[in-house]
Amino acid sequence: MSELKIGGVPATNLVAQYGTPLYVYDQEQLENNLQSYKQSFKSEKFPTKILYASKAFQTIGMMNLVHEYGFGVDVVSAGELYTALQSNVPVNKIHFHGNNKSTEELRMAFEAGVEHIVCDNVMELAELSELAKEYQQKMKIMFRLNVGIEAHTHEYIVTTHIDSKFGIAYESDDFKECLTILDQQEYLVLEGFHVHIGSQIFEMDAWYAAIDKMVSYLKDFNEPLTLNLGGGFGVRYTEEDQPLGIEETMNHLLTYLDEILTKEEVSIKELVIEPGRSLVAEAGYTLYEVGYQKKTPNKTYYFVDGGMADNIRPSLYQAKYSCDIATNMDAEKTELVTVAGKYCESGDVLIQDTYLPPVKKGDLLVVYATGAYGYSMSSNYNRSTTPAVIFVKNGQVKEIVRRQTLVDLLRNDVRE
Ligand code: LLP
Repeated sequence: MSELKIGGVPATNLVAQYGTPLYVYDQEQLENNLQSYKQSFKSEKFPTKILYASKAFQTIGMMNLVHEYGFGVDVVSAGELYTALQSNVPVNKIHFHGNNKSTEELRMAFEAGVEHIVCDNVMELAELSELAKEYQQKMKIMFRLNVGIEAHTHEYIVTTHIDSKFGIAYESDDFKECLTILDQQEYLVLEGFHVHIGSQIFEMDAWYAAIDKMVSYLKDFNEPLTLNLGGGFGVRYTEEDQPLGIEETMNHLLTYLDEILTKEEVSIKELVIEPGRSLVAEAGYTLYEVGYQKKTPNKTYYFVDGGMADNIRPSLYQAKYSCDIATNMDAEKTELVTVAGKYCESGDVLIQDTYLPPVKKGDLLVVYATGAYGYSMSSNYNRSTTPAVIFVKNGQVKEIVRRQTLVDLLRNDVRE
């Protein structure tokens, strides 16, 4: 019986020390991804910058690793900003996004002195202008533009998403008003434009369509501005997903942008991207212990000791994952089963209809590619405790987040 190893350590050893469910990151895989972006997202024509989209998976340990590779970070809330500020990431590498930042959050960003704020709507700009004046502090701002393109996986749709909650349409009265507000104040400095067209995108055409639009807007401005193309680069969850890979995607993106800039005679100050999922998803594994099995007339269930509280994506988006029995990797996969969680909800199914070997109670089951939007979207549903997060590399284990305890769960409960 051969056993899964992650970062050189057998799964049973990891579980013996940290319990199940357990979020495990192969640190080498994380670092390979960071390195691939770093090496391939470079241009001789303009400076480039990579911001890690913290929402995909943020902890102090992850922030520190990202910083080691020289990346900046994007944050979208007081909590993400605070985490970044508590890590080694310098404040001038923190970029603040979000469609409804509170006054407190904006104040926090001014007081910390973040690198820039991505402004999402007119009301925010008006508030930013007042705050900058109050603090007598210069602040760079980017506008998040809605280019009317929405891309998911293999499809993209142009001009259907004008009603998005995110961003400002370039041709709108709102955008004109933004430019007027900018003209009438002295502290906010227009840094450039931002766009994010969606997630889990595999086809380059969606990026090309977004680039066309953004470059046409940049052309209206005399000075070179920064262009931020957001995140959304696709990853492999199951065999159905066939991403191009980081290097190839970056090459296509840079080549296309370069061509359009030359053709349109537009210069940019800097090119920025914000990958989240593609940096962390495939480096993450979740280990569960198999509990009971149950046969119904049409199904066999394998139950595991986690589920929707540690990975909401299957129930929320019908996201697909693949899995193995980590304690029996070579066994023949003879059983057609559904892997379900332990939470009180029928939708708490991690993987529908997959082939696995026969199992016994206590075996370990691994779900692959859980590194993005797993821990970061976890909950305490059914008063479950959030699993530990560990990084493993060359046989060495580093605890990144401690498992929550029952005492942690009650920390904010008022007893009287
Ligand atoms: N930049 C902005 C402005 C974003 O809104 C996002 C993701 C990213 C970057 C990073 O995108 P990524 O490279 O990770 O696709 N919870 C969903 C994903 C929501 C993504 C929201 N924005 C999921 O689990 O699939």
